Amino acid sequence: MASKSIVVALALALLSSVSAQPPDPLSCVNCVGGDKKCVGDTAIQLLDDSECVICLKSSSKWTWPCNVDGLCWCWDTTKPRFKPTLPTGLEEATQKPCDIFTEKMFNELAPNAVHPYTYEGLCDTIEMLNKRYDEKIFQMGTLDQQKNEWAAFLGHTTHESAQYTAPRENLPCARTTQLGGGTYCKPCANENFDWENRYCEISLVSNGGMYEEYCDKTVTPPFGCVCGPTTEVETSGNLKGLMNPNFAFFGRGAIQLSWNANYAKASAVLAENLDTLCAQPELVATDPTYAWGTALWFWGFNKPPGEETTCHIQSLNEGSFGGSLNIINGGLECPAHPNSYHADAIVTRLRYYCIAASIVGVKRLLSFEGCDGLAKKFEDCNLSGMCPECNEWMMLAEVDSDEPTKAPTPKVPTHTPTQWRQWADEAWLSDIKRRDSSAHSVSSALGYVVCLFTAYLVH
Ligand SMILES: *[C@@H]1O[C@H](CO)[C@@H](O)[C@H](O)[C@H]1NC(C)=O
Repeated sequence: MASKSIVVALALALLSSVSAQPPDPLSCVNCVGGDKKCVGDTAIQLLDDSECVICLKSSSKWTWPCNVDGLCWCWDTTKPRFKPTLPTGLEEATQKPCDIFTEKMFNELAPNAVHPYTYEGLCDTIEMLNKRYDEKIFQMGTLDQQKNEWAAFLGHTTHESAQYTAPRENLPCARTTQLGGGTYCKPCANENFDWENRYCEISLVSNGGMYEEYCDKTVTPPFGCVCGPTTEVETSGNLKGLMNPNFAFFGRGAIQLSWNANYAKASAVLAENLDTLCAQPELVATDPTYAWGTALWFWGFNKPPGEETTCHIQSLNEGSFGGSLNIINGGLECPAHPNSYHADAIVTRLRYYCIAASIVGVKRLLSFEGCDGLAKKFEDCNLSGMCPECNEWMMLAEVDSDEPTKAPTPKVPTHTPTQWRQWADEAWLSDIKRRDSSAHSVSSALGYVVCLFTAYLVH
C-alpha cells in the first residue's frame, strides 16, 4: 500500500532575512542613471513601464507591481529587452555547447530516447536561449567548467526522464488515448497502477473523482496557471474515465516540470507569455522546444524561494552538484528519508551523473556539498557495489584527497562505449520509471516565503 505524506514547511521572511543575500541585480531599487530603465515584464502581466516607476523606491516593495517577483526589472537599454537571469560573472566561452556534447555522446547516454527528446531539439533550444541572453547555458568559463555543467545537467535530466524515455509522469498519464483528434489521459492512484505493464486499472477520475495533483489553487495568474477542476471528460461512452491533460500540471519534460506555478514561470521566459504553457501544458510532453526548454529554464532561471542562486550558478560558481540537486529536489532528497522511494532514486541519480561525467569526459566530479547526506550516499553507493559506474570517479577522489597539494590528476577515465550500452536494458532503469514528481512547488507570492515540499512516498 502506498503511504502518502505531505510535509509543509513554512519559512518566515524574518528567518531568511537574517542570512546575507546578494542584491538582486534586476531589482529596480537603484535602477537609475546611464542606460538603465525600470520596466515591466509584460509576459507576466500586462502593464505599462510607467507603472514600474514606484519600484525605484525600496519602500514600495510590498506594493503592486513591485510585490510581484520579477514583474518590474532593471533593463540595460543597450541590450535586447530580455530579462536576464542571475549572472555567473564568468567570461563567455568560445566552444559551442553542442560541439562539446555531441550527438554521438547523446546516443551513448540515451540509446532509447523517444520524441520529444531529440538531440537536435536540445541544441536548437540552447541556441535560441543563448542568442537572447548574455549569460549562456553550457557556454561560460573554461572548457572544464562547460563540461562539468553539461555532466550535471545530463545527470539530473537523464534520471528525471528515465533516460529520456518518459515525456510524462507515469501515474497521471503513463500512456495517452487518442480519440476524435484529442489526447486524453487516465490518471491513476499508485495502488491501482500496474507498474509492469504501465497500465491503470481504475481511473482516478471515474465516479466523480478529480485529478488535482500539482495544483495550488491559491496560485493564479500571474503567479501560476489556472488548473482544474479535472474531472472525467464524459460520464459515459469512449471518454469515460479519461481526463484532458491540458488542465493538469503533472511532471513533464526532461526535468519533469510540475506544479501550476512552475509552468507559468517557465512559459513567461520560454514563450514570452503565460498563456502558451498554461493553455497547453502538453507542449512540454510533445514539443522538443518545451520538453528541453523547461529543463533549461529550470536550470538557468529558476531561483529557489528567498535565494539568489540557480542550478547554473551552483555548477559554475560553487562547483557543486549537491547544490543543483538541492534546488531540483532538496525537500525530498537532501536528505532522503531512509527506505523511501527517494533513497533509491538518489542511487540512480548518482549513477546517471557518473555515466554522464564519463561520456562528456570531465576531469572530476563536482562536489556533493549543498545537499545534506549526498556525500555519504555516494560513499555508501560505492561500498555496497550499487554504483559500479562511479568506481573510477571514486578512485580519482581518493587520489586527490591523499595528495591535496598536487594539481588534480588530468587522468580522464577511459570508458568503453559498449559498457554503457548494457545498462540501458538493466532492471534498475525500469525502477526509476516509478518516479514521482520532482520540481516541487515554490510560491513566494505573498509577503512571506512559503515552501511546499510535497512528498508522495511510493514505498
Ligand atoms: C569502490 O570503488 C573502488 C575504486 O575507488 C573500487 O575498486 C571498488 O571495487 C568499489 N567497491 C565496490 C564494492 O564496488
